[in-house]
Amino acid sequence: MRPNRQELIEMLSLQVKDEIDKLYKRAYEIKKQYVGTKVYLRGLIELSNICTRNCYYCGIRKDNHSLKRYNIDKEEVLKEAKWCYEQHYGSLTIQAGERSDNLWIDYIEELVKEIKTLTDGKIGITLSLGEQSEETYRRWFEAGAHRYLLRIETSNPELYRSLHPAENSFENRLQCIRSLKKIGYQAGSGVMIGLPHQKGEDLADDILFFYDEDIDMIGMGPFIPHHQTPLAYLLSTFNPEQALEQALKMIAVTRIALKDVNIASTTALQALHPKGREMGLLAGANVLMPNITDTRFRDGYQLYEGKPGLNENALAIRKALEESIYSIGETIGYDEWGDSPHFRRKTSDQS
Ligand code: 5AD
Repeated sequence: MRPNRQELIEMLSLQVKDEIDKLYKRAYEIKKQYVGTKVYLRGLIELSNICTRNCYYCGIRKDNHSLKRYNIDKEEVLKEAKWCYEQHYGSLTIQAGERSDNLWIDYIEELVKEIKTLTDGKIGITLSLGEQSEETYRRWFEAGAHRYLLRIETSNPELYRSLHPAENSFENRLQCIRSLKKIGYQAGSGVMIGLPHQKGEDLADDILFFYDEDIDMIGMGPFIPHHQTPLAYLLSTFNPEQALEQALKMIAVTRIALKDVNIASTTALQALHPKGREMGLLAGANVLMPNITDTRFRDGYQLYEGKPGLNENALAIRKALEESIYSIGETIGYDEWGDSPHFRRKTSDQS
């Protein structure tokens, strides 16, 4: 049933601490019932920070010239993928700035194929590489990627326009999400929470957008201003506690409304609080994306201020992650792809 907009707005606007805690508890019960308390891991490889776009909020935007640009070579990526496989993560995610030149398209296709071969077809591959043509999406799907993340960033077209240059249309982004689904990917989307001029109504509409577009997995996080972007002026009034609470409420309300989707507890939550990701799990998220990119590339991939984990290596991250998951009484879905029950339900309905 389509969630009720007014109820979503009311839940998102809760301010009293007790009521917010009750909201998290309710979301957690629904999570237990529909997706369980096993956390699925996706090792995250930040492949390159070269980007052709100029999104006003993003630290790796093209016009940020104070950044050293990098591109991890094939040998290194395969090493990281193998490590991820040997750690029993089950899935990995390849994320990068947006490029759509032929060299790049070929590189990704090759990488996906080789990672599949290297892991006997056992590791699940998610791509998060921005807007591409339907043909490109198809090539990468045929190479072996089966999930794709493309955040809509905000479902309000006017707000979207205020955050992106005119050549990056909301309509094209929406078309991309629809192409992904048509091809057969499990489609992930998401939004930033706490954007300038974003209202409670917009967030409620974001959840309705996920519902209407039949999104299988959701990655949302707080908007955090970055000093080398046009939105840097928002840094002086940025309130991390408030941003964290708003993001956690959004996760909880999304879980309550959509029930069986996968929801990631994103790194941006951890940037606001050392226990941010555990808080995300307790508010209804069920997926974590530990960064497995070699630490020497990390400072080049600062989408927002204070991104954590810059000096930790992947092994230390894994240990810390395990401890934090066990500490809240949850387990880890090692060696599993951890597809969203929402997607599985749909495919089994069709057969
Ligand atoms: N704050 C929070 N999230 C951001 N992203 C980009 N810039 C920021 C920021 N300043 C998110 C976008 C993008 C994802 C890769 O990172 O939602 O889709």
